Amino acid sequence: MTSTLKQHFPTVGHIAMGCMGFGGDWNNNHYNTEDRATAERAIDTCLNHGINLFDHADIYKNGRAEQIFGEVLKNSPQLREQIVIQTKCGIRFADENVPSRYDFSHSWITHSVEQSLARLNTEQIDILLLHRPDPLMEVDEVARAFDELKQSGKVKCFGVSNMHHYQIDYLQRHLNMSIIINQLEMSLANNHWVNEGFNAGINDDNSRFSPAIVEHSQLNNIQLQAWGCLAQGKFTGNGDQTTSHTSKLVIELANEYSVSPEAIVIAWLMRHPAKIQPVLGTTNAQRITACAQANDITLSREHWYQLLVSARGQALP
Ligand SMILES: NC(=O)c1ccc[n+]([C@@H]2O[C@H](COP(=O)([O-])OP(=O)(O)OC[C@H]3O[C@@H](n4cnc5c(N)ncnc54)[C@H](OP(=O)(O)O)[C@@H]3O)[C@@H](O)[C@H]2O)c1
Repeated sequence: MTSTLKQHFPTVGHIAMGCMGFGGDWNNNHYNTEDRATAERAIDTCLNHGINLFDHADIYKNGRAEQIFGEVLKNSPQLREQIVIQTKCGIRFADENVPSRYDFSHSWITHSVEQSLARLNTEQIDILLLHRPDPLMEVDEVARAFDELKQSGKVKCFGVSNMHHYQIDYLQRHLNMSIIINQLEMSLANNHWVNEGFNAGINDDNSRFSPAIVEHSQLNNIQLQAWGCLAQGKFTGNGDQTTSHTSKLVIELANEYSVSPEAIVIAWLMRHPAKIQPVLGTTNAQRITACAQANDITLSREHWYQLLVSARGQALP
């Protein structure tokens, strides 16, 4: 954890829970009692393993992920003080006349937060992230929205997602509070954030990460959160021919460390000195428990590199 995240939320766990899977099917406009039971079971399992930061977005299941979470909170209000609630705004889905788009306007940010607060049944969002960069962002509007949300107590802390470091610096220059989170897709499969670091002086256009985003986060005390951290199970039973070599290695290491394969995949992210916070996307209680075992181990330097080289499919330069 970065000291900033810990400073604001001293009891936050190293692993976080992503709630995009809550709220039933994307295509339905309702959820059922089974969906509610899944959410309750997942939340309970997380808390039993010290996973207490819950990551939402206004758009997940068109608001139903937040809604189902809010129902759980309403039924168990004592949970609120044990958890950190993070949500995001800024993505708008297509409607009749307009395609999907991003919106960092003052009116959309404040509207979205009001809706999230109502769905989540809470007085305050602990951390609000801007979901994806909006090229039409007017920084002064964002700053005004953040100031108002902070002053009113509706949002405690702020962060971003899917931003490169110039976007963060530009935004930060205009804000009266620190950006404490950047959430990016990072995993053993999406390992460009490591690979770009080997490429100084090498003609390589493989990197889709902004150069040195990891070091930028470390320098500025910004907590990196990894979405897609399980790579949707690619190395733990949901893979194909292209991932089979790494999956085999993951199983070997799982046996060596006496943990689950999922824990190896998660521990690979957590071994990095940036103290990356994996955001689990599974809603399966058994898989959450399997992932939580990552808290019990530290991969050796040799095993970390073995996994990296296997996943990137070629030796290091
Ligand atoms: N900031 C952003 O732009 C952004 C984008 C996407 C997601 N997120 C956040 O990050 C969280 C995690 O993202 P994610 O869901 O993409 O990541 P993930 O944790 O890599 O993937 C989770 C998905 O993979 C499935 N899965 C995992 N292991 C499996 C296996 N062995 N066999 C079959 N299926 C397996 C899970 O199914 P089960 O539920 O059945 O285990 C679940 O559907 C989300 O919940 C959300 O909070 C953020």
